[in-house]
Amino acid sequence: MRGRTVLVTGAAAGIGRAVALAVAARGAAVVALDLDAAAADVVAREARAAGAPAALGVACDVASEPAVLAAFDAADAIGTPDAVFANAGIEQNAPLAEFETGAWWRVLEVNLGGVFLTCREAVRRLTAAGRGGSIVCTASPAAFVGFAGGGNSAYAASKGGVAAFVRSIALDCAPQGIRVNSVVPGATETAMLLTGVPARARPATAARIRSAAAEQVPLGRLAGPEEIAAAVVWLLSDESSYVTGTHLVCDGGLMAKSANDF
Ligand SMILES: NC(=O)c1ccc[n+]([C@@H]2O[C@H](COP(=O)([O-])OP(=O)(O)OC[C@H]3O[C@@H](n4cnc5c(N)ncnc54)[C@H](O)[C@@H]3O)[C@@H](O)[C@H]2O)c1
Repeated sequence: MRGRTVLVTGAAAGIGRAVALAVAARGAAVVALDLDAAAADVVAREARAAGAPAALGVACDVASEPAVLAAFDAADAIGTPDAVFANAGIEQNAPLAEFETGAWWRVLEVNLGGVFLTCREAVRRLTAAGRGGSIVCTASPAAFVGFAGGGNSAYAASKGGVAAFVRSIALDCAPQGIRVNSVVPGATETAMLLTGVPARARPATAARIRSAAAEQVPLGRLAGPEEIAAAVVWLLSDESSYVTGTHLVCDGGLMAKSANDF
């Protein structure tokens, strides 16, 4: 990744942070975008310590068009990003009849709208520079199967949209050498797993999730964010130079398994 500039959204925590540090360790410059500006700055510092020749934390709500444009402008201080990880996402769940309209649209505008704005800006700038590149978006198993826990309609719709969007723009971008793929992380040890869980209930909920993963995931455990990052680094790098329009499933075998046992 030496000589590359990698822009990561949702870079302050979880999978985004793991990717920012993994590409830094391979010599890439890093632009770390996140709603949480202070935490993005911390990741930029960590990236420099890990080996990035340059790293920048940028405050950005990926659902905001002006914020995304400003973040790419800020990235110019380091260089036009030629590898982009459109990863920022949120999850809010409720039974359909109780789903609040505002919550539904917020999930869609961050998870799908944010991916659109990030990818469009990346493609515009790579086109202006006459360069190819690699874009990876974060999908989810929810794009392909229903979650048994239920209440997941907005998140599932957003991630299904990401998967379809990736396929479609991969075709648009192929002639100019821009590859576009998605990563499909299974249940991964990040803050998102405990979204909406009150602080005092978190240790017990985390223990319950780990024990469910031990029973239900074929590999018998949750993923570490760095395991998802390894797949993303491969997609961002030239090692995957003939791969575009695909979904790389990293879920410990969960989607390969049917619950039917009769
Ligand atoms: N953790 C899992 O089990 C899992 C599984 C499948 C897919 N995913 C997806 O992986 C991606 C990363 O999730 P994670 O598990 O690392 O979560 P996380 O909550 O640990 O990190 C998400 C980061 O995104 C940032 N963010 C949220 N909204 C944003 C916005 N509007 N603009 C910019 N930044 C924003 C947050 O501040 C946070 O730093 C998400 O798209 C998520 O849907 C996660």
